[in-house]
Amino acid sequence: MLDLKTLVREILGNFCLMGVCWSNRIKAESPSNTGFNSKNGSGSSSRASSTSMPLTPRSEGEILQSTTLKSISFSELKTATRNFRPDSVLGDGGFGSVFKGWMDESSLKASKAGTGMVIAVKKLNQDGFQGHKEWLTEINYLGELHHPNLVKLIGYCLEDDHRLLVYEFMPKGSMENHLFRRSSHFQPLSWSLRMTIALGAAKGLAFLHNAERQIIHRDFKSSNILLDSNYNAKLSDFGLARDGPTGDKSHVSTRVIGTQGYAAPEYLATGHLTTKSDIYSFGVVLLEMLSGRRAIDKNRPTGEHNLVEWAKPYLRNKRRVFRVIDPRLEGQYSVSRSQKAAVLALQCLAVDPKYRPDMNEVVTILEELQDTKGIPKSTQKEHNATSQGLPNGAPDSSKRSVDDALSVTAYPRPSRNPLFA
Ligand SMILES: Nc1ncnc2c1ncn2[C@@H]1O[C@H](COP(=O)(O)OP(=O)(O)OP(=O)(O)O)[C@@H](O)[C@H]1O
Ligand SMILES: [Mg+2]
Repeated sequence: MLDLKTLVREILGNFCLMGVCWSNRIKAESPSNTGFNSKNGSGSSSRASSTSMPLTPRSEGEILQSTTLKSISFSELKTATRNFRPDSVLGDGGFGSVFKGWMDESSLKASKAGTGMVIAVKKLNQDGFQGHKEWLTEINYLGELHHPNLVKLIGYCLEDDHRLLVYEFMPKGSMENHLFRRSSHFQPLSWSLRMTIALGAAKGLAFLHNAERQIIHRDFKSSNILLDSNYNAKLSDFGLARDGPTGDKSHVSTRVIGTQGYAAPEYLATGHLTTKSDIYSFGVVLLEMLSGRRAIDKNRPTGEHNLVEWAKPYLRNKRRVFRVIDPRLEGQYSVSRSQKAAVLALQCLAVDPKYRPDMNEVVTILEELQDTKGIPKSTQKEHNATSQGLPNGAPDSSKRSVDDALSVTAYPRPSRNPLFA
């Protein structure tokens, strides 16, 4: 039986046509446009033997037969999560709840809480085609893709109506929690950590876009950037991912899917999907990181609900950029670097996709913005020069060298949350 939340999602999903959407998550695509045929359909595999990149196979049968992922029984996962105990929920999303659990690393058998390998178990709690399709797409992509900036999928469960996914546990949870949750468990992330996370996420996205057959993530957002114990960023949620366009063919979705506030304007307006749609979403996330504000926040005053619309005029004006920067970061960044980061966000958010940079360019710029030791003296001078004559309220790093300014990372580490430990 459908619960109320699921029912509402299903109904709303059906009303999401070409950008007109009634929920935050813009989900639903007509089955004829999925790239998947009916269950257990036959046909030769479309996987290329010369590459490890997944080419969208045609059927569930093909995907599950060809994956090297482990199939894990429902009862094993039930034991591993102590019967999906409510107090072991790590988070909830559109797909379902995510539970913390334990299993033996080599046998993948459930182990006693606190022993063996820690896992995160995502359990589909909605009926219907969309959930199953996302579950399968996740296996199709994450089962094959391996990169330090992509979360590791360990296995899956398909039993009766049960659809689950088993991931490596990411001890620091999602970046969304760190940026927006106000609690003693989530202290504000420092400027330098935000830049490190941005770079890691950018490398993950660049890896997808550089693949022999490009992959478009299509749901890049702060809740899909997970953090390991050292705050290394790993992308998750490939349930909406698609192979990029090939040759002169381009994707035009009959229904737009993704998450409101992050989706590129041309995709919303026309359904036209390219890697540049991901770049736009990256710009939104970068802006969230710089500002500490959510992409969409209805609790803010009128005119500030949509982060991009609110921030763009400030980003365009070098002297007003500081207005966008999270006040909790005061004293942690140099003016020059904040301006560079703002320009990068603005470029990614260009209305015309052809003016957006590609992910390799984004990675290069973010590498320059890292808090590295041994910055050349000339760069230090440049930083000090640009930080003169600051408007009221701008962080004044002019009294320090750039190294000093950058070493101000009075960062209070998030205190221990029993689940993210
Ligand atoms: N591998 C993991 N390790 C630790 N925590 C995780 C892991 N995967 C997910 N989580 C937590 O569970 C939460 C829910 O994740 P999920 O991907 O289901 O939804 P979401 O990304 O928050 O939202 P949506 O479904 O709208 O995309 C995440 O925000 C994160 O806090
Ligand atoms: Mg997610």
